[in-house]
Amino acid sequence: MNNIPLVIASSNEGKIKEFQKLLQDFPFNLKTQPLGLEIDETGKTFRENARIKAITVSKEIGDLSLADDSGLCVESLGGAPGVYSSRYANSDKERIEKLLAELQPFTNRKAKFECALCVASGENVLIEVTGFCEGLITFSPKGKNGFGYDPVFEVSGFGETFAQMNYKKKKQIGHRGNAFKLLKPELKKLLTSLAD
Ligand code: IMP
Repeated sequence: MNNIPLVIASSNEGKIKEFQKLLQDFPFNLKTQPLGLEIDETGKTFRENARIKAITVSKEIGDLSLADDSGLCVESLGGAPGVYSSRYANSDKERIEKLLAELQPFTNRKAKFECALCVASGENVLIEVTGFCEGLITFSPKGKNGFGYDPVFEVSGFGETFAQMNYKKKKQIGHRGNAFKLLKPELKKLLTSLAD
């Protein structure tokens, strides 16, 4: 029985669909956040931003809320673009061009994607997990799949970029998939405690 309301704190349709698929075996009645609710992502870390989103939405609706925040951290750039990944430039194409230009002087091209997930009930943070995926920034874009920085992120040990992989493979080894692997057992524990 899907009887526990859980609000997905996102207005991004792609993300909402991904969450719906990942949570399909759980007894949640999934809801989406109210239209027009603007949340300032003022955190300095992905974890802080996920918290801000989950708490704001849960307080607004009065149900449990699940939020994520993710981005790319490049070692030679001191962790940039980091929490500014989506605000680094105006389009995916421009973001990639800027990243490759800024990295040009460096030989160290190590980078990692990070995804923080947070479940909150009002002000209370019930679950926090973070998933990672390590790799290297390529010298030029490769592949057509995915979105964002996928064409220039070559996954460690795989020799291909996220954009050269199909969705299933990216989900298995990617930062978001890794965060979900950590979230699932925590959600099971939470459901047990709610049933007590
Ligand atoms: P947010 O979590 O929706 O705030 O996403 C932050 C930004 O990080 C996105 O707009 C992308 O630029 C980047 N990003 C996050 N996850 C990925 C990914 O899986 N591939 C490529 N870019 C990503």
